[in-house]
Amino acid sequence: MYARNHWYAAGMSHELGDGLLARTILEEPVLMYRTSDGKVIALEDRCSHRNAPLSLGRRIGDVIQCPYHGLEFGGGGSCTKIPRLDRKPPASYTIRAYPTVERDRYVWLWPGDPALADPALIPDYSWQSQDGWTGTVWLRTIKAGYVFNIENLLDLSHLEYVHAATISTEKFNDAPVITEVHENHVDVFRTMEGVDSDDPEAARYTSGSAAPGGEKVDRQSHVRYIAPSAFWLHTTTYRSGCKDDPDAKINRFGGPNTPETASSHHHFMSTYRNYALDDESLTQLLVDMANTAYSEDIPLLLKQQDRVDAGTYKPIRALPIDKGVLAGIKILERLIERERVEGKDGPVVIAAE
Ligand code: FES
Ligand SMILES: [Fe+2]
Repeated sequence: MYARNHWYAAGMSHELGDGLLARTILEEPVLMYRTSDGKVIALEDRCSHRNAPLSLGRRIGDVIQCPYHGLEFGGGGSCTKIPRLDRKPPASYTIRAYPTVERDRYVWLWPGDPALADPALIPDYSWQSQDGWTGTVWLRTIKAGYVFNIENLLDLSHLEYVHAATISTEKFNDAPVITEVHENHVDVFRTMEGVDSDDPEAARYTSGSAAPGGEKVDRQSHVRYIAPSAFWLHTTTYRSGCKDDPDAKINRFGGPNTPETASSHHHFMSTYRNYALDDESLTQLLVDMANTAYSEDIPLLLKQQDRVDAGTYKPIRALPIDKGVLAGIKILERLIERERVEGKDGPVVIAAE
């Protein structure tokens, strides 16, 4: 069902403060908090005594006290105190602690084997913390399985119908779809070439990033799915034929899709851009645009999930437009299958001959 030996976005930096944040990640109850020295901790949100949610308890400094009978747990998951037991708590009371890394405004959590948790494997959203970019991140949790959202995001063909009233344009829908399949990611490109820079119809999907008039520009959409659950959409406007245009206006929409349960997911959304850096109202406009578009997708995702829940979901009949979707799902299934085969022993090592 899941590829566990990967980093998943579990929270956003601004959510972690003095309080306790409870969130279900890959069907596991997780409690997150920030220690007094700024580190983000993620623990199993389940007391080892009688399963009470620790997120309903309280902090005593950097220790969490269970609300039921007062057992206390440190950031490493070990039980540090059992009230009225005058000896060190046994190791068997330890709860699970997840590796975490805070990067690019997300808290990344590793739900698999901690020994394999290499921060170098975290998907790249570096522009979200770089100078020269501005934007924001937010979260929407949707009651549909994450695979339905991955399929939706990898598919630049549904705009013509689902988003006909908002971001869809004829020029975009006529542009060819180019799909590139890589080892662990899939790229889908759609480029409107040689359009007038001040053509409002062509500018609509590229998020209002209007270039100065009088020049022909290309407007490219580039979707990347990074298995198992990261995603972004970059829309770039550049002088026609000049992909390295130093004046290119770029919008970058995220982001990771983390399974919550088998039938729901967390979509960590974001919008960043490399122009109009001080224009707060543009940030809000782009947030609204992304939310509006996503709200057009969501009813369909919910209905697909309904079919699964009712046991009436049938295998898809793919079309040529599904090339990127099929490639992404194939990579995801390969990752899941590889973990199933490797089991608890970690990556398969092929001995040299
Ligand atoms: S359930 Fe947590 S202390 Fe009893
Ligand atoms: Fe959509």
